[in-house]
Amino acid sequence: MANDTHVLAHPPEGAGADWTIPQDWERYTDEDHGTWDILYARQTEMLPGRASRAFLKGLETLELSRGGIPNFDELNERLTAATGWKVVAVPGLVPDDVFFDHMANRRFVAGNFIRRRDQLDYLQEPDIFHDVFGHVPMLADPVFADYMAAYGRGGLRALELGALKNLARLYWYTVEFGLVEEQGALRIYGSGIVSSKGESIFALDDPSPNRIGFDLERVMRTEYRIDDYQQNYFVVPSFDELLRVTVETDFAPLYARIGGQGDIPIGAILPDDRVITHGTQDYAKARGEA
Ligand code: PHE
Ligand code: FE
Repeated sequence: MANDTHVLAHPPEGAGADWTIPQDWERYTDEDHGTWDILYARQTEMLPGRASRAFLKGLETLELSRGGIPNFDELNERLTAATGWKVVAVPGLVPDDVFFDHMANRRFVAGNFIRRRDQLDYLQEPDIFHDVFGHVPMLADPVFADYMAAYGRGGLRALELGALKNLARLYWYTVEFGLVEEQGALRIYGSGIVSSKGESIFALDDPSPNRIGFDLERVMRTEYRIDDYQQNYFVVPSFDELLRVTVETDFAPLYARIGGQGDIPIGAILPDDRVITHGTQDYAKARGEA
């Protein structure tokens, strides 16, 4: 995921100049594959009626149901046929310019390690379950695939304009934690939600968080938390609309304007918001976060 913190300044030993490494699929243990299977079963059981159609269709297209950690070579045959995207393995977080360059060229970087058994419920850094189960089904959707590639190009531009903080929030509130409206009902599609059992329920059913209609400028001004369930979710009317508004808008003047405005604190509701749920924030309050 896009992140301001770089663990390393240069590719680690064994990685190419583009930071990619072989997935080394043979290296996974039975326990690793079993961890994937537990997480996979837990998530797919609750996603019908919760996840967006695009995500569920992506799962089918990619045939992720075959068991065990997917082999990227096989996965890529199906993914590339669908949208031209492929998954490449990296050791962990990579520098922003490397991340965006891969994305702009339809390569999604995925960590190749899987979490331990005592980390089934929550893990702050992205592992292969988050990266592959969470992100890749949406990359099989033609419209979302175009959005992600456009985002990669936008990322390279934001780096030059010094506006990464604002653009990263767009990623956070769409790609990672987005909701979409489908036939009048809310559905989850953000990878951070669909790969988390607790948040898959919380994001749709809990009275605590705010659910607010997506507005580009509003989202780019809004702070976010990386260490717990979100206090705000933003709802796009459709992926066509998300793609349209982000591609048609020149972000340079937007960055300039919002640079002069204040950031919006995490749980706030503004007068102009299209509020779908005005959250109680009880969850965050009980945790001392709001
Ligand atoms: N239109 C954006 C820009 O001018 C690029 C972009 C497209 C960013 C889609 C994100 C998603 O920088
Ligand atoms: Fe992610």
